[in-house]
Amino acid sequence: MAQETSPLAFHGTVIHSLSPSELEILEDCLLVVAGDGTIQAIHKSVPRSDVDALLSALGHTPDVISVRYLDRGQFLCPGFVDTHNHAPQWAQRGVGRGQSLLDWLEEVTFAHEAKFEDPGYARRMYAACVRGFVRQGITTAAYYGSKHGEASKILAETCLALGQRALVGKCNMNRNAPDWYRDASAADSLRETHDFLDHLRRLDPERRLVTPVLTPRFAISCDRDLLAGLGDLARAHPDLPIQTHFDEAEQEMAFTRQLFPEFPHEAALYEHFGLLTERTILAHCIFVSEEELRLLEERRCGIAHCPIANTTVGPFMVAPVREYLRRGLKVGLGTDSGGGYSSSMLDVMRQAFVVSLARQTQTHGRDPAWTLAECFFLATLGGAQVCGLDAKIGNFAVGKAFDALEVHTTVETGIMAPVEEDDSTEVVWEKFLMTGDDRNIARVYVQGRSIK
Ligand code: GUN
Ligand code: FE
Repeated sequence: MAQETSPLAFHGTVIHSLSPSELEILEDCLLVVAGDGTIQAIHKSVPRSDVDALLSALGHTPDVISVRYLDRGQFLCPGFVDTHNHAPQWAQRGVGRGQSLLDWLEEVTFAHEAKFEDPGYARRMYAACVRGFVRQGITTAAYYGSKHGEASKILAETCLALGQRALVGKCNMNRNAPDWYRDASAADSLRETHDFLDHLRRLDPERRLVTPVLTPRFAISCDRDLLAGLGDLARAHPDLPIQTHFDEAEQEMAFTRQLFPEFPHEAALYEHFGLLTERTILAHCIFVSEEELRLLEERRCGIAHCPIANTTVGPFMVAPVREYLRRGLKVGLGTDSGGGYSSSMLDVMRQAFVVSLARQTQTHGRDPAWTLAECFFLATLGGAQVCGLDAKIGNFAVGKAFDALEVHTTVETGIMAPVEEDDSTEVVWEKFLMTGDDRNIARVYVQGRSIK
């Protein structure tokens, strides 16, 4: 499906990350997007009077190509990458605070996800969910679906139809959940997964927007046959991403040890079943031992840091994320919507900052708090690395897909800290990150297509 759009050009401020510590601000930048949605050219410091000549030199007819001139207070930045998101929890976000993780799953979540048995409900709810995330600038999401193969296909179709880039997984779970909400057996779960993978291969054969992802919910909800079957699938298709929850809560880890006494820790467990690969996305990673860390480093796994869920489901928990980045592990941010009460990556960046301050205090300064530039990196390029998509998205470079946000910081209806005459571009960006919201995200582009 080589969808073509009209070529597009922007002139103005462009902000993106080159690395965790390098934020690049390009003023008077001319950024040109080709008809296939990839970035054709990036020229910095171009006077407005030179734009037409440069566009001609790039093979465009200035009167024909649409050029968006960004005013002061407006800028382009990469779209946000949400590395951990439960799409069927869209309508239960924030419900059940004060419960432990496992109680919250039993008492709130499973009953809610069970509704996705009904394809009509799935269609309605997933359309609302994907629209909601897109409106808030999430151009790529790694979604857990419900246990239902049919509803998970609908989720993938919805992402494709609405133009959002996504990893979509049918959730595998055949035990420790009520019989009205679990896969009947390992064989059934695997059969549905195969069927789901076939469907996605037909839907988007080149994975232009939608990629299937193996999704064992966590070891508690999968028996050995199911984990082994998923491991076989991962070995047969090394390009398949995998996602699961990892060392998320003490209660969860204790129950996992009880179910799998043969393994010293979760890393050994997932490693045994062939589920730790460079395509694996491990959500939370709060209580990771030194031995586990070494294994994650060796396997080059990615980490989805979910600071909102970590501090509001069960106790307040602080993941040692600075250490992960120091060791060169891939790290991104996740809303974990609806365990995370917010579906906004701006909120997630803010909470990552808050939690990193707690960590700084806890470690007497050994793990310094994130800078805002680092939070922004985690929400964009870091997330793209975790999803195995950094060759394609995460920042702006010639040949990459144009997945971007057009941010307008002076919006009548907004509540962002007002931009003042003497604010530098960096201050404007900082005000947006700390006080802006979806009203400031004027347009959202995925693969060059405007979807908000
Ligand atoms: N562990 C297993 N399932 C879930 C879930 O839905 N949300 C979170 N945060 N953790 C989980
Ligand atoms: Fe989760």
